Amino acid sequence: MNTAGKPELSPSRSVHHSIPTKAIVTGGLGGIGRATAQAMLDAGMRVATLDLTEGELLHNGEKALSRVCDLRDSEAVRSAIGSAAADLDGIDILVNCAGINANDSAETADEKAWNEVMDIDLKASWLTFQSALPFLRLSKRASVVNVSSVHARMTSRQSFPYAAAKAAIEAMTRGIAIDFGLEGVRANCVAPGWTTTRLVESWLSRQADPTAAAAAVARLHPLGRMVSPAEVAQAILFLADERSSGITGITLTVDGGLSAQLPHIEEPSIRA
Ligand SMILES: NC(=O)c1ccc[n+]([C@@H]2O[C@H](COP(=O)([O-])OP(=O)(O)OC[C@H]3O[C@@H](n4cnc5c(N)ncnc54)[C@H](O)[C@@H]3O)[C@@H](O)[C@H]2O)c1
Repeated sequence: MNTAGKPELSPSRSVHHSIPTKAIVTGGLGGIGRATAQAMLDAGMRVATLDLTEGELLHNGEKALSRVCDLRDSEAVRSAIGSAAADLDGIDILVNCAGINANDSAETADEKAWNEVMDIDLKASWLTFQSALPFLRLSKRASVVNVSSVHARMTSRQSFPYAAAKAAIEAMTRGIAIDFGLEGVRANCVAPGWTTTRLVESWLSRQADPTAAAAAVARLHPLGRMVSPAEVAQAILFLADERSSGITGITLTVDGGLSAQLPHIEEPSIRA
């Protein structure tokens, strides 16, 4: 109880139960997904990753389960979620983090690029949810966190159909939040901005001067830098666990302030 006589929900109390919380993280071997799965293991949760390859994540001898699954294949998704749920003995938390980018415009994108981005960045999150729902219904702390992007609301050139998929995942998440809220299933999004993962490293490496490009990107942020996968993971963990028990249907932006400000005008003759 706090001084006002109200019950307090401290992070340590909320995430440590006698029965461990069970979580599935798609894309759990990538930059943000791996940091999320690791943070969950560190918080005492049982974790399964779904990714294109097998990988090892450890905390105090506790290993994350690793399931190989191509999220473009709906049968493979159903089977991987079912087998992870059986091995974890249930599902309390589903984090959809797997994603790819495509640097196309509406003119240059072909159907293959469109389908690939939509399948991985959007449809897979619906399929994993559908398969996980029977287990989430049995949980007393069911929470879904979908990883969106700042591109859902503001985008840049050549980011089609990525931006379309990310906008749609936020709408889909609100739909899940309202359809399943009465059954105790919460659903939220985390929208990262520039995050220092291989997705961004690979983009930087394709620029004429990657160091100058990284510095220019850093200058866009009120914090003067991109965010780290661990910082995004902490936001995901917050929305996934019971500290956020009153929150559903929102998007939490983690972008170092990027989307808070209008672009700078660099022209020296113009004063702000
Ligand atoms: N890095 C950023 O700046 C940034 C910004 C905003 C949003 N995001 C989003 O964060 C999420 C994670 O991105 P990241 O930067 O960690 O990328 P990443 O490339 O490091 O990780 C993505 C993971 O998804 C997995 N994956 C891709 N296709 C798959 C498939 N068909 N089946 C199964 N797994 C598959 C990859 O193997 C990888 O482990 C994505 O949804 C991305 O759109 C990233």
